[in-house]
Amino acid sequence: MTEINAVTRYDLEGDVGVITLNSPPVNALSAPVRDGLAGGMAAALADDKAKAVVIICEGRTFIAGADITEFGGPQRGASLFDVQDAIEGSTKPVIAAIHGTALGGGLEVALACHYRVAVPSARCGLPEVNLGLLPGAGGTQRLPRIVGVEKALEMMTSGTHVPAKECLAIGLVDEIVPEGELRQGAVAFAHRIAAEGRPLKKVRESNEKVEAARGHPEIFANFRKANARRFRGFLAPEYNIRCVEAAVNEPFEQGLQTERRLFGELISGPQSAAQRYAFFAERQAAKIPDVPDDTPVIPVNKVGVIGGGTMGGGIAMNFMNAGIPVTIVEVKQEALDRGVATIRRNYERSRTAKPEETEARMSRLTGSLDLSALADCDLVIEAVFERMDIKKEVFAKLDAICKPGAILATNTSGLNIDEIASVTKRPEAVIGLHFFSPANVMKLLEIVRADHTSKEVIATCMKLARRIGKIAVLVGVCPGFVGNRILGQRQREANKLIMEGAMPWDVDRVLYDFGFPMGPFAMSDLAGLDIGWVKERSKGETIRDVLCEMDRRGQKTGAGWYDYDENRNAKPSPVTEKILHDFIVKSGANPRKVSDEEILERCIYPMINEGAKILDEKKAIRPSDIDVVWENGYGWPVYRGGPMWYGDHVGLPKVLEKMQAFQAQMGDQFKPAGLLERLVAEGKSFSDLK
Ligand code: CAA
Repeated sequence: MTEINAVTRYDLEGDVGVITLNSPPVNALSAPVRDGLAGGMAAALADDKAKAVVIICEGRTFIAGADITEFGGPQRGASLFDVQDAIEGSTKPVIAAIHGTALGGGLEVALACHYRVAVPSARCGLPEVNLGLLPGAGGTQRLPRIVGVEKALEMMTSGTHVPAKECLAIGLVDEIVPEGELRQGAVAFAHRIAAEGRPLKKVRESNEKVEAARGHPEIFANFRKANARRFRGFLAPEYNIRCVEAAVNEPFEQGLQTERRLFGELISGPQSAAQRYAFFAERQAAKIPDVPDDTPVIPVNKVGVIGGGTMGGGIAMNFMNAGIPVTIVEVKQEALDRGVATIRRNYERSRTAKPEETEARMSRLTGSLDLSALADCDLVIEAVFERMDIKKEVFAKLDAICKPGAILATNTSGLNIDEIASVTKRPEAVIGLHFFSPANVMKLLEIVRADHTSKEVIATCMKLARRIGKIAVLVGVCPGFVGNRILGQRQREANKLIMEGAMPWDVDRVLYDFGFPMGPFAMSDLAGLDIGWVKERSKGETIRDVLCEMDRRGQKTGAGWYDYDENRNAKPSPVTEKILHDFIVKSGANPRKVSDEEILERCIYPMINEGAKILDEKKAIRPSDIDVVWENGYGWPVYRGGPMWYGDHVGLPKVLEKMQAFQAQMGDQFKPAGLLERLVAEGKSFSDLK
């Protein structure tokens, strides 16, 4: 055994040289890993006894990509291109042995190898697009040469991790070896390749698949068109597509130059900076300073959900999907039946779930009309009507029924959880689990820590969130918590702007162009204007009253803020325009022209300001947690990093100056947050808070 460096060793097994990398947590291609690979290749080539070479990793995964933390810093160590040249140009066959994930630069190293073997659980992908990038180490030129243009486009613009079996089918992997036997399997494969004198397959020389697409620009045009909605606003998907076009239309070396140039543009641009920030922000959110990683957790093997409506049903599905039995409790049989039927329908409609999976998941569901059915649950989540008296009643009952140690959670979207906990004898077991609708789809989970919530309960819920595929953010108790509290600011301004002369479609357009999937008025039409509206009590006092009274209740009635055609396409409505005009005049004002710039600043800056207040009150642990909430729960465009990141990049002095101007003009709703003032005075930004 030869130690190449701290993360690399070289051994000879029979007639096969094995380079082993061990750089936790994910063997990212840091300078020591690149140096180790270069040194390992040199050792293997110099070793006369080695007839072939295997590159393998220890720990949980094969190389998971470039070391993202190195981006933007000075280049140290061997360059990845030199390492790839050493591998590809080797006179002995080089085999990548893949387990875990071969991602980004990791797959690009594997693509420079002559052959690839993998265990069944392995996955391969080029996920750079999710970091606002493209594979910058030849991946854009090599992947289409192996898997063909269409598949390469799909993989590179989605960043999907493709399972080993599929990799074998598309030629990305040459052989699957038994799980747990990667090393022996790869060495045996390498020995065979060398013994048979099989050719050194260099992907760069394999042109058949890219040539087949030459002269067919419609492949790219169609792909762009089919995915226009998904790619909207993002630069990276388009740049990835251009690289594949280069693979088709340019010789390999020239294609590499194109790739390098476009990679350079992306990595120095603001979108990738925001997307890389988002990657780390998401991982950071899992870290709670006073709840260390080794905090004991409570085993959760059975979950109870109170309420079988849209929310309760969606919540239940998360646990059923993860293999955890769920009992749903409803008050009436009819409601229970409806809830269970909706869950089944959701599964049946889902494109991914196979019929046998639907049955397996449904078999984990039990319905009951009796709260005492929850006695043996480890976690109970209440998703009943959003009223304090009802919640308190439910929690008092749960406290009496549930076994000692069970976690009692509320899905409230803003009520005071301390008050809810106060009716129980176990406030340490009470926590908020705020799911977002549709709860089986939305990634975000706000976990709300009340005054007495125990660390074990927090640690359990954070880990459980991961188990059910959610991105959890720990927040404190305050009206609306983090997400809805900030949303309230935007909603208030949107509503005020249309009372000054902006049209709902102007507000929506500005926010849509900013990158939100939908503006607030289009959203309101989709959800229905009559949520919470009571006909008998309506007196035409608000615009919503008037619209609802006219039966303009949103998309479902063919009209709301907008008019809709038979295909539910929205058009600006002269009726709404007239109602707004009359309202403004009646209030003694005159409609004025509101600029797009004002709409944006009035909607967004108060959100940043509210985020600063939330931080000042310690209701969020760090600025990036607020960004994670907004990106994953409210459609904030990832390429703009989240409200706090955006504030930093607009410049906090500018945000403060505008807030002060708005305050002078329109009152204390715009009062700047103390933290914002302090940061500006100290010449700092949110990112300095860390
Ligand atoms: N660089 C640096 N650190 C990385 C990293 C990378 N490429 N990938 C993961 N990490 C870190 C994470 O930040 C995390 O650190 P902490 O424990 O300190 O928070 C740790 O590794 C574990 O990561 P996860 O919590 O995400 O672990 P997981 O098991 O859930 O997932 C993973 C593992 C699938 C590899 C996931 O981490 C992942 O998707 N990583 C990014 C992969 C990627 O995008 N690769 C492409 C990089 S860009 C590139 O390669 C450009 C090029 O062309 C040369």
